[in-house]
Amino acid sequence: MEVVASAPGKITLYGEHAVVYGKPAIVASIDKRVYVRCRLRSDKSITIRALNLQVPGIILTYNKDGEVILKTDYGRVLSAVSYIREAINLTSRYLNEFKGADLTIESNMPVGAGLGTSAAVSVATIAAYSKALGHDLDLHNIAKLAWNTEKNIQGIASPMDTSISTFGGIVYLTYDGVNFSIDPLHIDVEFNIVIGYVKRQYKTKEMVEKVKSYLQRHPDLVKPIIDLIGDLVNDAKKALIKGDLEYAGELMNINHGLLDALGVSSKELNDLVYAARAFGAYGSKLSGAGGGGSMIALTDSERVQQIITAIRILNGLPIGTEIGGDGVRYESIDKNK
Ligand code: MEV
Repeated sequence: MEVVASAPGKITLYGEHAVVYGKPAIVASIDKRVYVRCRLRSDKSITIRALNLQVPGIILTYNKDGEVILKTDYGRVLSAVSYIREAINLTSRYLNEFKGADLTIESNMPVGAGLGTSAAVSVATIAAYSKALGHDLDLHNIAKLAWNTEKNIQGIASPMDTSISTFGGIVYLTYDGVNFSIDPLHIDVEFNIVIGYVKRQYKTKEMVEKVKSYLQRHPDLVKPIIDLIGDLVNDAKKALIKGDLEYAGELMNINHGLLDALGVSSKELNDLVYAARAFGAYGSKLSGAGGGGSMIALTDSERVQQIITAIRILNGLPIGTEIGGDGVRYESIDKNK
């Protein structure tokens, strides 16, 4: 049996970091995806090849409890492996079934860019592996297993990245610290999003811990910032539904300022954010965990090219994208392989 599943990356239009503390967020899938090919083996090994995630070809082995172990510390470049390993562990535990498999992972977005690659890797791995074992997990179960994967690897994670990668679309997500729900947003007005990417120095886990430490050290200052982000997400939801792009853009700018105040932006990201505004974006902000990584600009179609040029001049990598496409999906299922 060979299954290929794919899952999209994401941008956060509004609300990252505050979502970890139970605030709502508006998040969208992008047209960059991670593809996981899973072929069952007759032995109990898991092999992983993920050349464009910098994983050269690894054989995982199992301890006596059936858990996947990595014998060597492969360092941060191979952090994708830890998500894959945990996704397999949790899926086989949930299904109460384990078989060895060859996994080949391909991504058409940069790893560690703040575009939710690790969530997409987890979601697509869970979908492909469970299907190869002959199970039909529903989307809620896939989203939950993927969220648990992120929590176990990162220590702390909201359900945002894993649920958008599972369900896709443009959604308003609420999360009370335990449960989450997602409402698709119906936006009638046309707009474009340009992503700009600069090399990222820090992992999501490090940026989330930074905010946590700020909050612990300066609760009277930092809690109101998190509350304000929650408030502006609700305003942004109304602005987008109304089609008021000017106001939606202003709210992005405010959101960026508050994220900068939380210490998660960087000079390189700020440069791209300000350049996008100077070149006519309605608004712009960092997207994702920050510390480098991605920024987004909200714009109309006439200004896309000039914003892309501005990002390039500042040594950023522009990534044009369509947003709101499919969540996890099966690309092929071949019972004869
Ligand atoms: C990372 O893409 C988004 C954060 O809000 C972390 C999370 O929600 O788990 C920074």
